[in-house]
Amino acid sequence: MPLVVPGPIAEEHLEIHRSLERLARGSGVVGRSARALRDVLDPHFRKENELVMPLIGVFRDLAEGKRPEDAERALQLAERFAAEYELMLREHAEILRTLEGLERAAKRSGSRAAKAFASRLRRHAKIEELLIYPAAAACLRLLRQT
Ligand SMILES: [Fe+2]
Ligand SMILES: [Fe+2]
Repeated sequence: MPLVVPGPIAEEHLEIHRSLERLARGSGVVGRSARALRDVLDPHFRKENELVMPLIGVFRDLAEGKRPEDAERALQLAERFAAEYELMLREHAEILRTLEGLERAAKRSGSRAAKAFASRLRRHAKIEELLIYPAAAACLRLLRQT
């Protein structure tokens, strides 16, 4: 696969973004908390789509010992991601802290949509920390070997 955001990952980001937009249009405490979350989530997603997810596009080739398309550009990206990795984990911590506000608002107002959104975003961040980020980070070593 080329150095692009894989389809299912792009869709997942887009669906989460759209659900949050819907919540952010709402009035009251849910809308307010959703807008605060959007302010921290949108730039984070943009950075992931630029720096992290394209590496997942070439990860399978690398894991199978093949040299991917765009290996030079992938190496540059992997170096940039390595420099940002710790910061991006801190962004997750900030996102989860902000998400707690939305979770409280969901509870107070009984918003099932906000509650479902919160669990989805928590799962998304966990999968990134367990799998997506480590795989993208491993690309640096694998690219240097191929
Ligand atoms: Fe993400
Ligand atoms: Fe993330």
